[in-house]
Amino acid sequence: MEEILQKQLMHFQKETFQRDLLEWYRREKRDLPWRKDQDPYKVWVSEIMLQQTRVDTVKPFFNQFIKKFPTIEALAEADEEEVLKAWEGLGYYSRARNLHSAVKEVKETYGGKVPDDPKQLEKLKGIGPYTKGAILSIAYNLPEPAVDGNVMRVVSRILTIWEDIAKPKTRKIFESVIREIISKEHPSDFNQALMELGALVCTPTSPSCLLCPVRKHCAAYHEGVEEELPVKTKTKAHRQVQIAAAVLKKDDFYYIHKRPSQGLLANLWEFPNCETKRGNLSQKKQLEQFLQQEYGIESTIGDLAGTIQHVFSHLTWNISVFFGHVKNDTEMKEINKVTKDEMNQYAFPVSHQKIFSLYQEQS
Ligand code: ADE
Repeated sequence: MEEILQKQLMHFQKETFQRDLLEWYRREKRDLPWRKDQDPYKVWVSEIMLQQTRVDTVKPFFNQFIKKFPTIEALAEADEEEVLKAWEGLGYYSRARNLHSAVKEVKETYGGKVPDDPKQLEKLKGIGPYTKGAILSIAYNLPEPAVDGNVMRVVSRILTIWEDIAKPKTRKIFESVIREIISKEHPSDFNQALMELGALVCTPTSPSCLLCPVRKHCAAYHEGVEEELPVKTKTKAHRQVQIAAAVLKKDDFYYIHKRPSQGLLANLWEFPNCETKRGNLSQKKQLEQFLQQEYGIESTIGDLAGTIQHVFSHLTWNISVFFGHVKNDTEMKEINKVTKDEMNQYAFPVSHQKIFSLYQEQS
């Protein structure tokens, strides 16, 4: 750790900080479904869902997921398709696949008990340093750091840490700091209190310093620099992608495609679609050609039915939606034909659920 930071920590009133933070947390903490008990499996599921997704969005998904898969055994025995279906709408589906595969490993290797050993935990798929620390501290009450972006924001302000939080190695600095200041008696509440403070008070913009229970310990507040912290450099530019998608029908059947097993939204189902380029050929023509060349489907596509936008962290899909009729599918490949009722068994990304809603509204 840097010398300046070490000096700061020497003067930091650890015990009163812990007391002020914990008192506030016990008074003000939100009643969240994953706080009902300390079941390591439920803590794990909640922490995975809460990565990249807001608390209010996660709540209903968490409740449904735990109802459907109440234990490690129940989830380990489920089909991947069923798990993805329960995750449908939460996004970042590799989280669900990794969780499923790690839970199977916990059942097989550790007899269904989530390990409380850091070395064993970090070997599990999808468990990085943050999730490892969250499970160890929240479920097992071990004094381990659980550092995510929110915790870095809070702690960077309290101790005026000017390191760039966009750099991967910065997390380690915060982990060492947390190891110094964490309550050894109440690590579970301590880490959750930092998260809660980041969510309710020490927000990214306009933090509510006047309501902050640890304001008197906060160096950024005293120096008036709370809005300048944390330091975070910009990441790569966001890319706009134009896509044309088709809801195709013949008799009672719809045509759906399974996405590749690697990459964005892997293994989810979608309506046939392609990236389109600006040029002489209309999007509709590019789509017809693609369906013929890629899937061997001869179709008649109608006029533009609507557009749907979906924003990912690194790119945006601008989807033009078309409805069409299949003339000939005798040479068809890589496509499943399903009835409307059967479609409920397949997991679709939110953008493609919206495509089908658009179709239902208009037909
Ligand atoms: N964000 C990440 N983990 C959380 C938790 N356990 N409670 C509330 N917000 C969180």
